[in-house]
Amino acid sequence: MPGRDFEMRTARLRLRPTEPADAARFVQIQSNWNVTRMLRLAPWPVDPVEMASWVDSHSAEWTAGTAYRFAVELDGRVIGMCDVDDILSDHGELGYWYDEAHWGGGLASEAAAAAVAFARDQLGLVRLAAGHAADNPASGKVLQRVGFRFVADITRYSRPHGQDRPYRTYQLDLR
Ligand SMILES: CC(C)(COP(=O)(O)OP(=O)(O)OC[C@H]1O[C@@H](n2cnc3c(N)ncnc32)[C@H](O)[C@@H]1OP(=O)(O)O)[C@@H](O)C(=O)NCCC(=O)NCCS
Repeated sequence: MPGRDFEMRTARLRLRPTEPADAARFVQIQSNWNVTRMLRLAPWPVDPVEMASWVDSHSAEWTAGTAYRFAVELDGRVIGMCDVDDILSDHGELGYWYDEAHWGGGLASEAAAAAVAFARDQLGLVRLAAGHAADNPASGKVLQRVGFRFVADITRYSRPHGQDRPYRTYQLDLR
């Protein structure tokens, strides 16, 4: 299992394990409804206490091998988060979200490719799941670009919306 000093570099980005000090920046990013409305489990409005406690738990998750969450930095500044979580035996789930100011430049795809390689090469996972709200085609593009295939249209509860919403699921075979 990679240690907490593990980090990854892509052409433009640095991905490193989240730290408690990231919580304030994450709150800033998720204070934008355009970001948080696309998430499944985040509260709306953003809750700084819940965010701090969530980020505090990341180190224990990493050590337990249940979730690996990376702060994504561009030019030394955190622009979002990318993670592999829900890890059970040989499979997990990919997730991510970014500051709206940085959308549209291929950064999410760049980080997702690194996270997929991490899941395969460092964690030895054989399968990743992922999904996105049906009204979030940009996320579908990111998933397809890094190799995911569409699985099904379903309905899933969205915490920020407080109701079930149309959702699209995907899978990636890493073998
Ligand atoms: C979804 C998200 C991660 C995409 O980040 P990004 O850095 O803009 O993604 P990329 O630039 O790597 O790729 C986005 C692709 O979607 C395309 N796209 C953007 N809006 C689109 C739309 N409305 N319809 C179809 N494609 C769209 C872009 O053109 C791009 O594809 P291209 O490079 O082939 O042109 C970002 O918008 C985000 O953080 N949203 C809020 C949180 C979220 O949705 N997280 C994912 C939850 S599943």
